[in-house]
Amino acid sequence: MKVSIISVLATTVLSTASAQCLLQSDANTLATNFGKLVSNYSEALANKTLAPDFIDYSESVNTLIDNGGDTPVPLLSQTFSSRAAFEKASAAQPSVPFAVKNVWFNCNTITVRWESDQSPKPVIGISVMQTRFVLNLQNPVLFQIAEVWGEFDSGAWLTNLGILKQASKKQRREIAFEA
Ligand SMILES: *[C@@H]1O[C@H](CO)[C@@H](O)[C@H](O)[C@H]1NC(C)=O
Ligand SMILES: *[C@@H]1O[C@H](CO)[C@@H](O)[C@H](O)[C@H]1NC(C)=O
Repeated sequence: MKVSIISVLATTVLSTASAQCLLQSDANTLATNFGKLVSNYSEALANKTLAPDFIDYSESVNTLIDNGGDTPVPLLSQTFSSRAAFEKASAAQPSVPFAVKNVWFNCNTITVRWESDQSPKPVIGISVMQTRFVLNLQNPVLFQIAEVWGEFDSGAWLTNLGILKQASKKQRREIAFEA
C-alpha cells in the first residue's frame, strides 16, 4: 500500500504536537512576529500570526488613541475587537522600533517583555499572548495569537509624540501643595 507523504507528514505533525503545547521555538517566533506587526506591519504576516477572531486589550493603547484623555475609547474597554481592527490600526501607525527582551511561555500562553527604543524616551512594555493550536503547515508555527493583554509606558510614548509635556517646576510645586 502506498502511503502518501502528506498523510505521513500530517500524522507526524499531529503526534509530535499531540500535547499541543508551545515549544520555546514557537514562543520565540510568535514573539518576534508580533513585534514585526508593531514595527513593520504586513497583512501577510498578520494573517499567519493572528487568529481570525483575534482580540486585544490594552489601557495603554486606549490612552494613546485618546491622546492622553479618556475618550473616544473608554480606558478599560477592549482595544481591538477583531483582527481587522488591529490590522487597520497597525497599518496606519508609523513604524516604531521594537525589540524582544524576554520571552516566557507555558503550554498556550507567551509573555513578552519588549523595548521600543524611541526618542527621547524608551518605552518598555509587557504583552501576554494567549495562543491557539492551528494545524496549518503554511504558517511559521502551528499556533496563532488569539488574545493579547499588553501594557507599556504610555506616558513616555505620549511624550515622544509631543502630546504630554513635563509639568513646570511651578506646576509641580502647586501639585505637591494640593496633595
Ligand atoms: C519590513 O517587511 C518587509 C516585508 O513585508 C521586508 O521586505 C522589509 O525588509 C522589512 N523592513 C524592515 C526594516 O525590517
Ligand atoms: C489576509 O486575510 C484576508 C481575510 O482572510 C484576505 O482577504 C487577504 O487577502 C489576506 N492577505 C494576504 C496578504 O494574504
